[in-house]
Amino acid sequence: MSEPDWKALYAEHLAQISADARAALGACDAAGLVIHAGSQRLYHADDQEVPFRQVPHFTRFAPLEGAEHLLLLPREGSPRLIQVVPEDFWHEPPGPPPTWVSDALELEVVATPKIARERAARGALGRDPERWAYVGNDLQTAAALGLPASAVEPAALLQRLDWDRGVKTRYEVASIREACLRAALGHDAVREGVTRGQSEHLLHLAYLEASGQLGRECPYETIIAWDRHAATLHYPHKQRQEPRPGRTLLIDAGATCHGYASDITRTYLRPGSHPVFHEALLGMVQLQNTLVDTVQPGLPYLVLHEAAFRGVTELLCVLGVLKVGAEEAFERRLAFPFFPHGLGHHLGLQVHDVGGKLSGPTGPPSPPPAEFPWLRTTRQLEAGHVVTIEPGLYFIPLLLNGYREGADAAAFDWELIDALIPSGGIRIEDDVLV
Ligand code: GLY
Ligand code: MN
Ligand code: MN
Repeated sequence: MSEPDWKALYAEHLAQISADARAALGACDAAGLVIHAGSQRLYHADDQEVPFRQVPHFTRFAPLEGAEHLLLLPREGSPRLIQVVPEDFWHEPPGPPPTWVSDALELEVVATPKIARERAARGALGRDPERWAYVGNDLQTAAALGLPASAVEPAALLQRLDWDRGVKTRYEVASIREACLRAALGHDAVREGVTRGQSEHLLHLAYLEASGQLGRECPYETIIAWDRHAATLHYPHKQRQEPRPGRTLLIDAGATCHGYASDITRTYLRPGSHPVFHEALLGMVQLQNTLVDTVQPGLPYLVLHEAAFRGVTELLCVLGVLKVGAEEAFERRLAFPFFPHGLGHHLGLQVHDVGGKLSGPTGPPSPPPAEFPWLRTTRQLEAGHVVTIEPGLYFIPLLLNGYREGADAAAFDWELIDALIPSGGIRIEDDVLV
């Protein structure tokens, strides 16, 4: 596949998101928007820096590394970027942005955050600071720019900006696709190591090497889990010893491109795994494929989640884990302890991207229903959304224990469940452009 034309894609992206942000400013009667890349924090009583993550709204406008930069967008006018490149011999400052960024944006490079603020105040912001809005993580920066407290992330403006991030531009889609391709290199390398029964730690290192990332560059901590560890949804550890027995391996790992994330999960089995667990994996692969094929504009994500919940329920009945008919099992919500998370989420600059629980650019929030409280998006799918589809089926003792004595206990095959607990769990996750 040829390299995307980033220059053309970014120019189109910048024009689109600037127009959207200006419309949002108009609707909220604000004169302009200053987006702060964010301030670097230190650990308590320390001179060591907490790993820095940029404010995603900033990264969306200007994909360049580092803290303290300011992006200024007047309601009438073009975006202007003030990049802070400190004179620093302790830490090499980040290099210049790609030329396709500096060609498209008015760019000024300064040495300190203070100078950046002074330069910002020389333009339209300085003439009317009370009517500008600030997006960022540092109230002192907003105050030093002369903005009142009410200008910090006004809820109505943030809602519009978050909502607009749902539909991706072609540049964003190309960036997420590239992040998927990078992650796929890592996943391919891990698959090799799985056949050899390598430790979680070695598989993690193989993933980083093949995907070309440092640990801190991953969009989230890799999840590399053998056997029972696969039943911990966000298992963070990396055991150094070889797995015993080493039958199930779940890997959930992504990569980034221009700040955009991928989020991919695979589950592998090695010889000797329980035949029912093997059947469960085949069933989950089929279910995940069907769900991916069902994705289309106009479909509420909640409907997809309910279809996934029904599919996992039916599979549990076919496997004999649940001993009642599928319809009854669904009505009684017996699959809850086996599938205790949402089907997925929006994906973009944040792995769990913003905007999933909004009803629109204005209007009340749209939280998930009480029975699926962990569902991260209830939004109706639109062309240009990017979502994950990640059904799971786990044997989690903590959740199952509550059912062993309860009114529903007779509906479960506990002998079979106890035999499956050492296999951990299954999750299969892909990133899907609607
Ligand atoms: N990797 C986190 C998630 O799948 O949501
Ligand atoms: Mn994931
Ligand atoms: Mn995910």
